[in-house]
Amino acid sequence: MEATRRKLILSAGAALASTAAFGQATLTPIPSQTGEEMARPDIAYQGSTANQPLHIVNLLQLEPEAQKILPSGGFDYIAGGSGANWTRAENMTAYTRVQIDPYPLAGVTKVDLSTTLLGSTFSMPIFIPPMGSHGLAHVSKEEASARAAFATKALMATSTQSNLSMEEIAAFNPGPKWFQIYVPSDRGYLRELIQRANAAGYTAVAPTIDNSYAYPREENIRNAFRPPSSLGKGNMPRTIADPKAAAAAFEGRKRDLNWNDLEFIKKEFGGPVIVKGVMSPRVANDACVRGMDAVYVSNHGGRAFDGVEATFSALPRISDVVRGRVPSIVDGGVRRGTDVFKALALGASMVGCGRPIMYGMALGGAAGAQSVLEYLRDNLTLAMRLAGTASVKDISRDYLVQPGRG
Ligand SMILES: Cc1cc2nc3c(=O)[nH]c(=O)nc-3n(C[C@H](O)[C@H](O)[C@H](O)COP(=O)(O)O)c2cc1C
Repeated sequence: MEATRRKLILSAGAALASTAAFGQATLTPIPSQTGEEMARPDIAYQGSTANQPLHIVNLLQLEPEAQKILPSGGFDYIAGGSGANWTRAENMTAYTRVQIDPYPLAGVTKVDLSTTLLGSTFSMPIFIPPMGSHGLAHVSKEEASARAAFATKALMATSTQSNLSMEEIAAFNPGPKWFQIYVPSDRGYLRELIQRANAAGYTAVAPTIDNSYAYPREENIRNAFRPPSSLGKGNMPRTIADPKAAAAAFEGRKRDLNWNDLEFIKKEFGGPVIVKGVMSPRVANDACVRGMDAVYVSNHGGRAFDGVEATFSALPRISDVVRGRVPSIVDGGVRRGTDVFKALALGASMVGCGRPIMYGMALGGAAGAQSVLEYLRDNLTLAMRLAGTASVKDISRDYLVQPGRG
């Protein structure tokens, strides 16, 4: 961005902050754009070309390293959350408040991480959650992440906003996989997405419910940045011939999303439907009652509605309401094997790790993303040995310190 415009936005931000402090909300020096509604500059964008395995000491370290090599707009888009970034930070902090209660004399040496979920078996209970525009991290776009998932036999969920098409991604990852759906208001296009996912071999679909309206992401507004169209929009409608109408259908998110839409998806897809973005026991219970197949506890990594609680804090209440009727999945702030262990103990069957995968791609392409998955896998294996559990199925609340328990 040109320097004077950046300066203007920065000083406008400061002016806004000071008027807010004095209780006057009259000044609107910059348009009240949200991340979703900003004009999309079709700029040339260069992701990383690195391709190497990474020696990872811990995943937090990847963020500043990725920042050094990615264009700043792209890095901020990946790293940022919404609003004050409170929920984004809280997702990680919540894991530090719960401790593991180990049983070291269980004699565990061999650990079994294999996880069967919704009819498919994966090598570990750790997965790549749906993230748009992998091209922001690496020039090979979703090819890198899909190859990493396939190499490790881990689950990957492809986003509606992927740069490559869902069919291209499926070819790089022929195993079981999920497709995430941003539900469009155009029913014909929704049907097309579902049919394409089915035909391309996606074993489940996950409509996202927490982003029908976008809470502002301030970094993106300051940078005037959105993932550039030049990276590709792989899942644009194919059944709408007119390019303008196709673009409108692609962008037109259904604002009044409700259970009828999810039931429509279930009927059309015929396979498992996972509700992504559940943060409340009431919604989780309704998902079970409405015949949905899994509850995906997520706050979009703190990128959707800032101010909601951490996913790890919501998980026990949601598990208590779901009572095993359907599996629970969780993501948000997971950075260590011990975080995965704690989430499994509180009832999750599958645990997602988002941003570090993007940083892994930035620093090492497919090999880098694979290193992230392997790091988490090895760290979870160690945590299970130390805690005295041989199988992911055996990880329960008994392995967490509970206040007042002897
Ligand atoms: C760059 C980026 C893009 C994302 N795009 C999507 C998306 O297209 N659809 C979606 O449901 N969630 C999306 N998410 C949210 C992730 O699915 C996931 O909930 C989040 O990354 C988990 O938090 P973590 O990054 O702290 O691990 C995105 C997250 C990031 C970081």
